[in-house]
Amino acid sequence: DKSKSWSGRFHEPVAELVKRYTASVDFDKRLAEFDIQGSLAHAQMLGQQGIISVADVNAIETGLAEILAEIRAGQFEWLLDLEDVHLNIEKRLTDKIGDAGKRLHTGRSRNDQVATDVRLWLRSVSDEVVAGIRGLQTSILDLAEQHFDTVMPGFTHLQVAQPVTFGHHLLAYFEMLQRDAERFVDARKRINRLPLGAAALAGTSYPIDREQVARTLGFDGVCRNSLDAVSDRDFAIEFTAAAALLMTHLSRFSEELILWSSPRFAFVDIADRFCTGSSIMPQKKNPDVPELVRGKTGRVNGHLVALLTLMKGQPLAYNKDNQEDKEPLFDTADTLLVTLQIYADMLRGIKVDKANMRQAAFEGYATATDLADYLVKKGMPFRDAHEVVALAVRHAVDKRCDLSDLPLAELQQFSAQISDDVYAVLTLEGSLASRDHIGGTAPRQVKLAIAAARQLIA
Ligand code: ARG
Repeated sequence: DKSKSWSGRFHEPVAELVKRYTASVDFDKRLAEFDIQGSLAHAQMLGQQGIISVADVNAIETGLAEILAEIRAGQFEWLLDLEDVHLNIEKRLTDKIGDAGKRLHTGRSRNDQVATDVRLWLRSVSDEVVAGIRGLQTSILDLAEQHFDTVMPGFTHLQVAQPVTFGHHLLAYFEMLQRDAERFVDARKRINRLPLGAAALAGTSYPIDREQVARTLGFDGVCRNSLDAVSDRDFAIEFTAAAALLMTHLSRFSEELILWSSPRFAFVDIADRFCTGSSIMPQKKNPDVPELVRGKTGRVNGHLVALLTLMKGQPLAYNKDNQEDKEPLFDTADTLLVTLQIYADMLRGIKVDKANMRQAAFEGYATATDLADYLVKKGMPFRDAHEVVALAVRHAVDKRCDLSDLPLAELQQFSAQISDDVYAVLTLEGSLASRDHIGGTAPRQVKLAIAAARQLIA
């Protein structure tokens, strides 16, 4: 098999099974546009430095433009025999333009080439992810705005704790997503460095201009160490770690939507177009989208562990192990981007049952803390107030009624300091309105927080 660019030193062709085992073209062909972009920048630099002729550069540019058009038109023939995206494109170029094509790889190795391709691709994906996060954040803010004063029970241990507004609850997810966006923006700085020039691992003896190539490709600078340039994949691991965290946030949100849309809660209704039915149970409407988000989080977490494990035993510099970085990375990006989009759409189709939410907050003794705080304001130490209210709650549980249903005389059996102004603090609205500080759940604060959040992402 002399069709391979490296087969000169071999006495026998690569075994058929090995060919399939080592080939990556089936999946790395999706890097083609970036591979061509990198090759153009490299060729232009070779020309400027007098390493190859201007005529060769022109031929390479023409040839690569044709190849790009063939790929975009779906007419390019990818050959497994040619192993990967790099060798497929280079072979086609050489078939088209002859010797000039053979000069393209001067001062370059597939090791710095593939690292460059992946970084170019991931840079553009990172920008798409941040845009996707912004879209989802906007959906969250729109929903929060409609529900800045909608009462719901806040939970700890999934037991009713204190009343909160639904808008406030939603803004918690806005904050998580804001940190996620910051992580992707920050990771991009380390993605956006040029490996080209490192060649196989030690650099090259040609008088190359790496800074020039970096500028052409829009990189912020060059990878400073050639060994590191070809073997580092921590930029990819960082991206995947940020992705796993983002998915984890959406998985928690999904878990809540699944609970809330269950008839036992009946807080929200997810639009039919995001649900499916059962083939046996006619009454069912299943929240498939949030369930799949929760499920796909496992998949992305798995990719993170796969990439970490891929790196941990590798000696410097490049090893073929790194070819295994692509499928987890590609799948992480695909999963993330589609999840962000579908989530933003799904939130636009959420209907909230305010009455059920309010009733659930009402039934759960959610204002018990407010009663304790009331007693503290009348001079009772907090620990004593806690005890008094606990006894009052026990009494109400026995009577199967709410604290606010107890007549004043009965409440006064627990503390003489209770007077008829107590009913104002026992209401859900009174409890909410009293938490009126930065980060608090008072409707007034939620409105302010929404306005500030809109500014932040504008
Ligand atoms: N397909 C390879 C990868 O994805 C390209 C680099 C191969 N380099 C080499 N010396 N075999 O990592």
